[in-house]
Amino acid sequence: MTAALPYSNGLLHVGHIGGCYLPADIFVRYLRSRGDEVAFICGSDDHGVPVLLVARKEGKPPKEVADFYRALQQRHYEGLGIRFDIYSGTNTTEIHTEFSQHFFLRCLENGYLDKLTSQQLYDPESGMFLPDRYVEGVCHHCGSGGARGDQCDACGKLIEPTELIHPRSVITGATPEVRETVHWFFRLPDFEDRLRRWIQEHDEWRPMVRNFSLGLLGQGLPVRSITRDLDWGIPVPLPGDPDAKDKVMYVWFDAPIGYVSFTEQWCRRKGEEPGGYARWWKDPDCKIVHFIGEDNVIFHVLIWPAMLMAEGTFQLPHNVPANCYLNIQFPGEEETKMSTSRGTAVWIGDYLRDYPPDPLRYYLTAIAPERQRTAFKFEDLIRRNNEELVAALGNFVHRNVTFAHRYLGGEVPPRGEPTEQDRAQLAMVAGLPDRASALLEEYRFRDALQEVMAAARESNRYFDYRQPWALRKEDPSACGTVINVCLNTIKTLAVVMEPFLPFAAAKTASMLSAEPQEMVWSAGADPLPEGRTLGEPVILFEKLEARAGEGSPDS
Ligand code: 2FM
Ligand code: ZN
Repeated sequence: MTAALPYSNGLLHVGHIGGCYLPADIFVRYLRSRGDEVAFICGSDDHGVPVLLVARKEGKPPKEVADFYRALQQRHYEGLGIRFDIYSGTNTTEIHTEFSQHFFLRCLENGYLDKLTSQQLYDPESGMFLPDRYVEGVCHHCGSGGARGDQCDACGKLIEPTELIHPRSVITGATPEVRETVHWFFRLPDFEDRLRRWIQEHDEWRPMVRNFSLGLLGQGLPVRSITRDLDWGIPVPLPGDPDAKDKVMYVWFDAPIGYVSFTEQWCRRKGEEPGGYARWWKDPDCKIVHFIGEDNVIFHVLIWPAMLMAEGTFQLPHNVPANCYLNIQFPGEEETKMSTSRGTAVWIGDYLRDYPPDPLRYYLTAIAPERQRTAFKFEDLIRRNNEELVAALGNFVHRNVTFAHRYLGGEVPPRGEPTEQDRAQLAMVAGLPDRASALLEEYRFRDALQEVMAAARESNRYFDYRQPWALRKEDPSACGTVINVCLNTIKTLAVVMEPFLPFAAAKTASMLSAEPQEMVWSAGADPLPEGRTLGEPVILFEKLEARAGEGSPDS
């Protein structure tokens, strides 16, 4: 399991988390609970112009910038309970250089790289070539302004800097000149037929992912230059070729190779012999799943698989679940794109300073842009925490555990002869893990979470209908049965909520005095032993209030 490697050039905001890191973490937790062996691989994308631009702005060497932001990113993932097996960085390990150079040389040997003299934009004022984001202008595909020299955010299509209309150097503002320089080009068109057949075979993929990629294939793929005139990146491994001097690989060539090199790094950390990565990347019994955001589809569904085909010994991804963009809406304003440079985002560091992680995980899953773009509204997060997590899920757990402590000696009471309602409740809960599984297997995280919440609401209705507070005096055995049914409901709820709300699930397990092996998917509906002593009741979700100014662009 991989999640897109974020550039180590800035802080993480809720758009990043909801886009791919959180769904990936949910899926990994679910698979582990189900008993699968999973490697969850991520790290930062340190090379290329995105980091260089920030280094220039902050007046620091790019390595210092990358190390700084990588460390912060790591802290913020941890704070949200997103737990990678390894969080590395493409500029941190020699292993990554070796794998990237291996891919380059294999593509060359196999005849998929051409060395060509090409025309590139050059900034006469700074005396530099202007690859990628060093230049901005108008997109020649869709006409929108502010397009960068690598990709247009508005239409998602790739751009060569020389194709930009009205190009402008981001460094000096100058109008660039065109100069000749030698680069290596990846023969992407050679893979069109194989890519088309492969994508067509996967009709289970999200429609956005398939349609966007098949659409691009329909227009024909261009050859892509994969080297750059920069001094920050993986060196081109051709020491005998004077043209390769001072050239590094394009950041989008080495970045996805990070998934493989970080896997190898993780295997070695665990004490394995070199080559441990192959068990994951080359064994067809292992499935590779890449979680990404909308703007990365072209790279993960076309270019990266073509690189894997060109290298020739790897398996192709099993699925590439991409989310659409998560926009943001501030009170009284129009919905807008989240943007680091414009400050229109909610930052994870700021959020975690004031609020607990589970409500954000909950809200980001509840509004996940799985099929279309959606908008983050801070006041909605607060409202849904209070109305859904507190009032439905938290309340159900709390009212039962406190009832058992107050009136039933803090133990799981015996289950007597169940009534029709008790049976219906038990059946509803027994089916919950399978209902959630079916949705999770289809990467429908939003619907799976709704299934958990629907079960919590139905359980509250059952509790209210059976009135254990009245039964306590009238029919103590029936009262015990109701609380037994409810505590078992709580156990199942805790198992299925764990991927989404791991902090609340851990608290719930301790209230049930449950061991980890009781809280796995397959044991989710197994009954709690009667007479077990329960842990002390704790609050799962606090009622939240928006702090003054929270959720406005300037906060
Ligand atoms: O779009 C981005 O933020 C890229 N840094 C994602 C790279 S994903 C992978 F291929 F490394
Ligand atoms: Zn465009």
